[in-house]
Amino acid sequence: MSDLPIVNIGICGLGTVGQGVWKHLTRSRATLEARLGARLRLKKASVRSLTKKRGVRVAPTKLTTDPMAVATDPSIQIVCELIGGTTVAKDVTIAALRLGKTVVSANKALVCGHGPEIFAEARKHGGHYFFEASVAGGIPIIKALREGLVANRFDRIYGILNGTCNYILTRMEREGLAYPVILQEAKALGYAEADEALDVEGWDTAHKASIIAYLAHGSWVPTKAMNVEGITQLTQTDILYARANDLAIKLLAVIERDLATDELSVIVAPILISRNKVIANVNEVYNGVSVTGDVVGETVYIGRGAGQDATSSAVISDIVDAAALLLRGNAALPEPVEHHCPRRPPERSFGSYYIRLDVRDEPGVLAKISAATAKFGVSIASVQQSASARANAATLMLTTHETNEKAIRSAVAQLRRLAGVLGEPLLLRIASFGE
Ligand code: NDP
Ligand code: HSE
Repeated sequence: MSDLPIVNIGICGLGTVGQGVWKHLTRSRATLEARLGARLRLKKASVRSLTKKRGVRVAPTKLTTDPMAVATDPSIQIVCELIGGTTVAKDVTIAALRLGKTVVSANKALVCGHGPEIFAEARKHGGHYFFEASVAGGIPIIKALREGLVANRFDRIYGILNGTCNYILTRMEREGLAYPVILQEAKALGYAEADEALDVEGWDTAHKASIIAYLAHGSWVPTKAMNVEGITQLTQTDILYARANDLAIKLLAVIERDLATDELSVIVAPILISRNKVIANVNEVYNGVSVTGDVVGETVYIGRGAGQDATSSAVISDIVDAAALLLRGNAALPEPVEHHCPRRPPERSFGSYYIRLDVRDEPGVLAKISAATAKFGVSIASVQQSASARANAATLMLTTHETNEKAIRSAVAQLRRLAGVLGEPLLLRIASFGE
C-alpha cells in the first residue's frame, strides 16, 4: 500500500455537506483506495469558525479559516468547494482551477451563475470541474444526462429538484401544518440553504433547472429568463383541493424543448399533477426527475434530494472520478455543445390552470369573474367554493379549459382589478404531461 500514488484532497467548507464528505470518505476510504489503486488523503479543510462543534473529528493541524490556503496548497490536487454562495466560493474555485487543479462542487448557484466562466478556466488550465451534487442531491442525474442518455434529444424533463420544498409540501399535506413551522425542521435536518428563501421562493430549483437545461440542450438559461414561483403562497385550501381531486401539488421544474421549432421553455412553479404520475408520489426530502428522450422514451430517477448523506454520496462519486482522471490521465468526458435555443413565448405555452381567489359573498360575483376571463378567451371548466377566513367572503377554486400562458396571465390581472375580488388570486398550472 505504501508505494501507491497519493491523491490529496482539500475541503473548503466543513458544514452539513463537508462533514458528510469527511465522514463517509474516511469510512469508505479502504474500498475506494482499492478500486483506484491509490491512497486518498484528506489533507486540509477550511471553516469560518475554529471553535464551532463539528460532527467529525478533524486534527486541528488540518483546519484553517482560510479557504484560499486550501485551494492554492500545491500538494492538494482535488479541491472540494462546499462553502456555498457565489462570492468566496467563486474565488476559491477560480483560484484552484487557475492552478490546474480539479474542483468538485455542490454549488448550484455558482454553476448556474458562472458556469461558462468556470468551465472555461478548467479547460484553459487543464483542470476539471465536477458538480454532480449540485442537482438532485444523491441522484446521479448529471451522469445520466451526460453519459447514460447521450444518444437522446430531450423534449421534456420535469421533476422535483428541491428536497426542502418537497419535505414541506409533504408535511403540509399529511399534517395540515403551515409551511413556516415545517421549514424550521427542514433547516434543522440540514436540507435548507443558508438563505432558505432560495428554497421556498423557487430559486434553488431554478439554479438546478438551468444546469439541467445546459446539460440536456447546451443552452444556458439564466434564472431571470425563467418563470420562477415558490411555495410561499400555498395554503391548506390548495392542498385540500388537490387531494380531493386526486392531484398533488409539487414544486416542479419543467424544461421543454420543441424539437421541431427548437424553442425552449424553463419554468419553476408549484404545479398540480395527477397522482397517476410517479413524480406526484415522490414525497418527503426525495427528489424525482422524469427525463423523456427521443430514443429511450421516459426514464425516471428518484432519491434523496438534500441532506448530508445523500449529498456527500454525490460529492464522493465526483472525487473518485476526479482521482481516476488524475491517475490514469483519461480524457475528460465530452461536454455539451453550446447551442442557443430561442425561448418559447407565453402565447405558445398551453395548459389548464387552477385559480384560487377570495371574493365578496354576494350575487353576481361569479358572472363578473367568468366575463373577465372570457374577455381573454379563457373558459372556466369547474368552480368549487369553500369558506373564507375573511368576513362576508367565500373562497373560489376555479379550473380552466386549455388556454395559453399569455391569456391566463391577462385574465388573472383583470380578476385582480375586479371590485368583488379580495386579496391576491393564486394561479397554478395543472400538468398534463403525456395525458
Ligand atoms: P453549510 O452552511 O452547512 O456549510 C458551509 C461551510 O462553509 C461551513 O463550514 C462554513 O463555516 C463555511 N463557510 C461559510 N461561509 C464562509 C465564508 N464566507 N468563508 C469561509 N468559509 C465559509 O452549507 P451546506 O453544507 O449545507 O452547503 C454547502 C454547499 O452544498 C452549498 O453550495 C449548498 O447549496 C450545497 N448543497 C447542500 C445540500 C444540503 O442538503 N445541505 C445539498 C446539495 C447541495 P462554519 O462551519 O465555520 O460556519
Ligand atoms: N436546499 C437544497 C434542497 C439542498 O433542499 O434541495 C439540495 O440541493
